[in-house]
Amino acid sequence: MCGIIGFTGELDAKTVLLDGLQTLEYRGYDSAGIAYYTKDGIKTVKSVGKVSCLREKIDQVEKIDQAEKSPSTCGIGHTRWATHGGVTDANAHPHTCGKVTLIHNGIIENYHELENALAAKGKVPCSQTDTELVAMLMDSCYEGNPMETIKKSVAQIEGAFAFCIQFADEPEVIYCIRKQSPLVACHTENGSFVASDMVALITYSREYFVLPELHIAKLTKGRIEVSTLEGKAVSPEMIKITWDMAAAKKGGYPHFMLKEIHEQPDALQSTILPRVKEGNLPDLTADHIPLSIFKDISHVIITACGTAMHAGLVGRIMIEKLIRIPVSVEIASEFRYQDPVINEKTLVITISQSGETADTLAALRLAKEKKATVLSIVNVKESSIARESDYVLYTHAGPEIAVASTKAYTAQLACLFLFSYQFALGRGCITEKECADKIAQLLHMIAAIEETLTLEKVLEEAGSDLAKAEDLFFIGRGMDYALSCEGSIKLKEISYIHSEAYAAGELKHGTLSLIVEGTPVVALATQEKVFAKMISNVREVKARGARVILITNGRPEVDASVFDYQIALPKLEDELVPFTAAIALQMLAYYTALHRGLEIDQPRNLAKSVTVE
Ligand code: F6R
Repeated sequence: MCGIIGFTGELDAKTVLLDGLQTLEYRGYDSAGIAYYTKDGIKTVKSVGKVSCLREKIDQVEKIDQAEKSPSTCGIGHTRWATHGGVTDANAHPHTCGKVTLIHNGIIENYHELENALAAKGKVPCSQTDTELVAMLMDSCYEGNPMETIKKSVAQIEGAFAFCIQFADEPEVIYCIRKQSPLVACHTENGSFVASDMVALITYSREYFVLPELHIAKLTKGRIEVSTLEGKAVSPEMIKITWDMAAAKKGGYPHFMLKEIHEQPDALQSTILPRVKEGNLPDLTADHIPLSIFKDISHVIITACGTAMHAGLVGRIMIEKLIRIPVSVEIASEFRYQDPVINEKTLVITISQSGETADTLAALRLAKEKKATVLSIVNVKESSIARESDYVLYTHAGPEIAVASTKAYTAQLACLFLFSYQFALGRGCITEKECADKIAQLLHMIAAIEETLTLEKVLEEAGSDLAKAEDLFFIGRGMDYALSCEGSIKLKEISYIHSEAYAAGELKHGTLSLIVEGTPVVALATQEKVFAKMISNVREVKARGARVILITNGRPEVDASVFDYQIALPKLEDELVPFTAAIALQMLAYYTALHRGLEIDQPRNLAKSVTVE
């Protein structure tokens, strides 16, 4: 989703802003712009399209106007993902009104009221954005004191926001404030930096802080001051980055997605190994998860969005199987409007790679309001979801840059498995010996992941076949149905091919009518318990002319006439196959999109971190 970068200091601000925006490209956007201060005042350049288009436009402006060549010392930059108003130069940020220039991430919910109030004063915006209304509001509140202006303005704004603001009277200062949408900042000998995501700052610093909600940060060359709205100074805690720069670069792979698929053995080791103690028993003490939390739980609700929600579908099966308590999985954007049954005996598990997904964060807040215990599985340290949860299990997957989630998903599964084992042990549902056996198998799974990655060639071949399709189906039962949902979303988001995930037994209740000669069907048949039934379902589709990609756990005996491709995953305990199957499905989606010649890391209309409802 929209990206933010701001800088004031000794470096050339234009360069810092453009490089920062380039680093934030992975978040997904449709236009970009910067405002920067030169000796002639604050200049703004905006362009639809990629940051490279913005660079070209700035070069043209510089050719025409020699004054632009003078160094710029302070500025703000933005990549916009359209919400209010179409994709146009005018709607791109920054927006200026009078003495106020600002950029914004988030959504202003009461923009209509603001627009009417401003119209009553004869003020009409030039763009169709909610952001310009805030620039107008701030300008109308401005009487020479930026802090007071910000305080007065945010009191009138409802919704989620992260603002970086330049006032014409203090052109070398950046003011920032946020609610829900993330902002991080750091100061170095080169100056002060702010961004929506630490990835944009890592070239300059390995330490940063998260701006607390509804606090104002004032960035000057020499320092960053943070204060409450009442003006009380605060010192936010500094966070150290533990991953290196190489982790955020492509490292020789053509796409971040492929790199991140291949990083899964390492990501899983980092997520699992620190949580296994001697004797192969789970150990969540370093995560500060006390055994006491398992005692009184009567039911579990897992809530998340997209791929993270699909990890929850697998988690539900594991927890119900091992602990025999009811678990439901709720789409976070639905959960909050459904008056869910929650009480102090409910454990709510939220799952999120970014830790900033607005719907998941809102679900978490609702759960806390209703006195549930909230445990979150999150990848990004100190993100909003991590900070607001009672307990956090971090997935140590490292930065995930491609919009399509890959390594974060399998790391989420790893956390859910470790958590279920600990939960089952804590409730006396399994013995230490049984638990140790399970963990030994989980560790063995990491080696099987390496082996799965060697299936790339056959997956590429199957992907080149799928690339010609316009509609396809993923089918499976139980765990395999959960995986079908994940396979389907992965394929849709990057290959733009319509697909549906179906519980295989449900096909004949309607969907079978869509299977005609040549319809591709990806059939997951990895679970022994339902294997024979699954193969019957495969026969049903094959008999109607489907082209079948059959995914199996090992190479069970199957009549070769029922499939066109067989992806035989390395043999694992059935409950661990989601890890290897997920990787096969990720590669299948990747190669399908590659054969269609698409822009894999930044699919159209999608954003990495969805910080609006
Ligand atoms: C799909 C994908 C999305 C995210 C979803 C939640 O590949 O990445 O479906 O899983 O937007 O995002 P997080 O995990 O950041 O809450």
